[in-house]
Amino acid sequence: MERTFCITLFSSWLLLAFIIQAQSRPLDVRSFGAKSDGVSDISPALTSAWKKACDSPTPSKIIVPKGTFGLGKVTLEGPCKAPIELQVQGTLKAPQNPSLIKVGEWVTILYLDHFTLSGGGTFDGQGAIAWTQNDCSKTSECNKLPNSFSFGFLNNSIIRDITSKDSKLYHMTVLGCNNLTFSHVTITAPEHSLNTDGIHVGRSNGVKILDSTIGTGDDCISLGDGAKQVSVTNVVCGPGHGISVGSLGKFKNEEPVVGFLVRNCTLINTLNGVRIKTWPASETGAVTDMHFDDIIMRNVSNPIVIDQEYCPFNHCTLGIPSRVKISKVSFNNIRGTSASAVAVKLVCSKSLPCDGVHIGDVDLKYIGKLGNITTNCVNVQPAFMGRQNPPICAQNRNAQSS
Ligand SMILES: *[C@@H]1O[C@H](CO)[C@@H](O)[C@H](O)[C@H]1NC(C)=O
Ligand SMILES: *[C@@H]1O[C@H](CO)[C@@H](O)[C@H](O)[C@H]1NC(C)=O
Ligand SMILES: *[C@@H]1O[C@H](CO)[C@@H](O)[C@H](O)[C@H]1NC(C)=O
Ligand SMILES: *[C@@H]1O[C@H](CO)[C@@H](O)[C@H](O)[C@H]1NC(C)=O
Ligand SMILES: *[C@@H]1O[C@H](CO)[C@@H](O)[C@H](O)[C@H]1NC(C)=O
Repeated sequence: MERTFCITLFSSWLLLAFIIQAQSRPLDVRSFGAKSDGVSDISPALTSAWKKACDSPTPSKIIVPKGTFGLGKVTLEGPCKAPIELQVQGTLKAPQNPSLIKVGEWVTILYLDHFTLSGGGTFDGQGAIAWTQNDCSKTSECNKLPNSFSFGFLNNSIIRDITSKDSKLYHMTVLGCNNLTFSHVTITAPEHSLNTDGIHVGRSNGVKILDSTIGTGDDCISLGDGAKQVSVTNVVCGPGHGISVGSLGKFKNEEPVVGFLVRNCTLINTLNGVRIKTWPASETGAVTDMHFDDIIMRNVSNPIVIDQEYCPFNHCTLGIPSRVKISKVSFNNIRGTSASAVAVKLVCSKSLPCDGVHIGDVDLKYIGKLGNITTNCVNVQPAFMGRQNPPICAQNRNAQSS
């Protein structure tokens, strides 16, 4: 009796020890040949560590320790047998010359379930040379440079405590993901860096961006077609172009953008605050269930924008209405300062006016000197609750009542 008990106890102890050991022996990239000299490319070491981790039947962890490492280009791909955590504590530097990355992105992470990227480290895209090669304002081609991160087809995954610095093009793109959370992420690049969008989410469901700081040269956060149930909470954004849905309607078969909740965010010195934009003369599409709550604007040029005549550099046909339908949009408790006189612009499509637009408390002050604060509303009849300062769509309301 006692003997059996002892054997059982001993074997459960063995099993436990095995599980603990299997879960807790992290794979340090240095033992796969990585050198922290700031230049040697650690991608072969990282790839070998990844293969081992991915084959492990129990959860595994890869560590890039403190120090500065060169990283040429890497693709970390699943599916893997168990959850994997990549913990980057040090700084990874991309090659400065964008042609060294050739096709694709700098760091590509694909087809994983229960993946975690963490560690407090920095991914430095070293974009300064690349930015001088970007000529979007002259041609409509400016997507030839590598993004820093591509997260594709990840389920139940977490990106936390990571800094992305000076990406060549976008910092992070998200495609085909389900239940992906970004938290305590820091994104930085100078205001003048072209097309360095922070986090772009397309064709994904359940992406959360929490407790993060994003200051960059383009949109802090942008949603492309097929983004569903995305939430952004406690994010500080600026400099940059703000939080954007779109541009939509350029391509055939774009999926609807459904469910966007932006809450308790602060935008500082950004070009836009919260914005939905679609091209004129567009393909068909839909944007619905967009909610912007508790947002502080500090010196934001265009705090609240719906623009269905979005046409930068005149690369489109103005005058033909957008065929993207925008519905169920709310703005509530939005306050602070506008750097331009038009604090609220709601320009909807003539053929598909915006529906179900609700505006609650808004308190915006113009801090420039070019006239008085105004709002501009076209093809939209918002429902109002609470108090609006300035009055929103006042001209339109007067026009209706006269
Ligand atoms: C992610 O979830 C989708 C939808 O449930 C599934 O088809 C896909 O195989 C999953 N991917 C991985 C890598 O687990
Ligand atoms: C989403 O992913 C997180 C992280 O892996 C996990 O803890 C959570 O249970 C997932 N949520 C759902 C609804 O599957
Ligand atoms: C709102 O966000 C700020 C950071 O931007 C944070 O400090 C604060 O705790 C958040 N408030 C709530 C109620 O979550
Ligand atoms: C306000 O924003 C404008 C335009 O972005 C900028 O030129 C100006 O320096 C900002 N003012 C302050 C006080 O930050
Ligand atoms: C601004 O508003 C004030 C007070 O309503 C009015 O007297 C003034 O003419 C307006 N100025 C301009 C440039 O519209």
